[in-house]
Parts: sequence; C-alpha cells; structure tokens
Amino acid sequence: MQYPKAFTDALQFVWGEGFLSPGGPEEVAEMLHGIDLSGKRVLDIGSGLGGVDVLLAQAHGAAEVVGVDVEAPLIEEARARVAALGLSDRVRFDLVTPGPLPYPDAAFDVVLSKDALVHIPDKAALFADAFRLLRPGGVLAVSDWLWARGAGESAVVQDWVSRLGLVFTYTTPDEARAAMAAAGFVDLRLEDRRAGLQTANRAEIAYLAGAGRVELARIVGDEMAAARLASAVGRQAALDAGALIPTHLFGRRP
Ligand SMILES: C[S@@+](CC[C@H](N)C(=O)[O-])C[C@H]1O[C@@H](n2cnc3c(N)ncnc32)[C@H](O)[C@@H]1O
Repeated sequence: MQYPKAFTDALQFVWGEGFLSPGGPEEVAEMLHGIDLSGKRVLDIGSGLGGVDVLLAQAHGAAEVVGVDVEAPLIEEARARVAALGLSDRVRFDLVTPGPLPYPDAAFDVVLSKDALVHIPDKAALFADAFRLLRPGGVLAVSDWLWARGAGESAVVQDWVSRLGLVFTYTTPDEARAAMAAAGFVDLRLEDRRAGLQTANRAEIAYLAGAGRVELARIVGDEMAAARLASAVGRQAALDAGALIPTHLFGRRP
C-alpha cells in the first residue's frame, strides 16, 4: 500500500479534504477548461479519496462518475465521502487491479485522471484502454507528473523520491504524446504546468515550515509532519532543476 492513512491525512491537511494531489477545485477547473461535463459519463482513473469526483458531479454537472483505484481503504473512504454528501446515486467507486479496466467499449464520454498515471508504467496500454473506453468524440483529460529525460537517475530526484515511499514511473512529455497518438487520440495538447506549481509549492514549504507545522504534527505526529516538509522541499528542487514537469494532457477519440 502506497497511501496509508497517516500519509493521506497529511496530504489532505495540505491539499484539502478528499485530495491527494495539489491544486484543489481551481486545478480541476483548469483541467476541464473547455470541456463541458454536464450530462456526461466520466471515468476517473486513480480516484484516491474522491475529492475530484465530488467536484465533477457537484461543480461540473457530470451525470455519472465512476472512480477507480487500486487501494481498498481509499475506495472505502471515497464511498463514505459521497454517501455523506448524498451523491452515491451519481458517483461510485470500483476497486480494480492494474491493467485493462472492467468496462465495455465506449462506456464513457470523458476519461479523466489527476496525478495518478505517474504510478502506471505501461503508458501505451493505459492510453489504448482509455481510447477503448471512450465513445467516438469522447475526451481524455489528464494531469500527470512527467519528467525530463533521465530524471529518474538524477540525484535531485532520487534524493526526494527515495524518502517518499511512492513508486513513480518516469515518462517524458514526448513519450506521453507518442503513446497517446499511438493509441489513436487526435487533437493532442500538452500544457506544462511547472511555473504554477513552483509558486504554489514555495507557499506550501513556507506553511509547513511555519504555521502549519504544529497543527499538522498534532494530527499525524512530528515524524510525518517533518516528512511532508522534506517532501515539499524535494519536490521544489525537482521542479527548479527542470526534472519534474507537471503537465496537463488532452486528446480526443475521433
Ligand atoms: C496522487 S494520488 C491522486 C488521487 C486523486 N486523483 C487526487 O487527485 O486526489 C494517486 C492515486 O492513484 C492510485 N493508483 C495507483 N496505481 C493505480 C492504478 N494502476 N490504477 C488506478 N489507480 C492507481 C493510487 O492508489 C492513488 O489513489
């Protein structure tokens, strides 16, 4: 398990309730810029605690949202979150195993994923499956952590990731674009989000080193609070070195 409870509690403290990735509602709105979800069926790959999925239904008007994840406790917490909000009839979560997803061809209008594909090594298979799951005309909208070539071997990244407890896969923007094209997606668009994350991450470091530190330690203990600060510092180094390239990726099934 890569996302134990003390870790997800700490991530939510920093990034907001239901979120295991940065940016909150504004970032989800950026991912969906120009994409109308009203009345649509949406698949969310790597749904975590379901904060994104609540927004897709509540703020963006999706008719139906299916979130999938590989960690059972996250799925349970996400289900409890939507039940408490009375959204269970529109938002559901399925526990899956890595690999092709158990849904029929053309089952979704939109396939979305926020900061989860970094955990999935076979991008060719992943994008091929997303293509299969979309109806013709359907849209892929992804936020992912992409990397400069050789980033996985760089000292700055190894120093950060080796202490993080997460397994990343190091895909470059060119490799991601090629995998999407090979799957059949058209109208490809990749947007480098590094500048925005650099600014937000600097604020996160200041908060975790200052006012937030005591409060976070009260919730998850000193060790985890210190680890979150160290991780934010490591992430900043990877961003500043140009190794980590947070990216939005879009494509359409013709
Ligand atoms: C950084 S979290 C992001 C969660 C959520 N999208 C968010 O933004 O709050 C990455 C998520 O991807 C999930 N994950 C990892 N490998 C996966 C796979 N092969 N298929 C689906 N989800 C996966 C993890 O369990 C975790 O919940």
